Amino acid sequence: MRQPRELFLHELKDIYYVEKTLTTTLPRLAAETKDTELAAGLKAHQRQTEGHVKNLEKVFQKLGEPARAEPCPGFDGIKREHDKFLEERPTQDVLDVFLTGAASRTEHYEIAAYTGLVTMAKALGEPEVAELLDRNLKQEKEALRTVEKIGRRLSKATAKNGRPARSPRRRTTARKRTARATSRS
Ligand SMILES: [Fe+2]
Ligand SMILES: [Fe+2]
Repeated sequence: MRQPRELFLHELKDIYYVEKTLTTTLPRLAAETKDTELAAGLKAHQRQTEGHVKNLEKVFQKLGEPARAEPCPGFDGIKREHDKFLEERPTQDVLDVFLTGAASRTEHYEIAAYTGLVTMAKALGEPEVAELLDRNLKQEKEALRTVEKIGRRLSKATAKNGRPARSPRRRTTARKRTARATSRS
């Protein structure tokens, strides 16, 4: 490969593969969580993702190229990581937090891909293509902010629930205190 346009098309096919795969992956993740806000967020982003696929098809069309996906090992790795984690048999609370992390990783991947694509499209003198790609980029950034916010809430709640109610030493002290109070009365 020698031409920057070839690299651009390669990256375009890569993100097209990611977006197409995500249209089926996101509903599966939404079904795995018991958190209603996270499930709603994932479903909403799935609808946006369908729009991302359409925008990418418009990009291919503007460039006079057939819309073709190219398997993306980077994204497949994030998916494999998720599948492998399920083998650890996490509790529902832990799984919910994990899912926010998996979703964040995906958004970061997409943000990096679109940032590069927008830059390349502008450099190649394709402002309309850059504009379409930028629309997707903006929604990915918004989706990342949403999932990070949910992640913070779930992490705090899980840390609270997972903490032992009282440490053994404090329990002894409390018992002694009760004993002392009883002997005094
Ligand atoms: Fe997307
Ligand atoms: Fe996304």
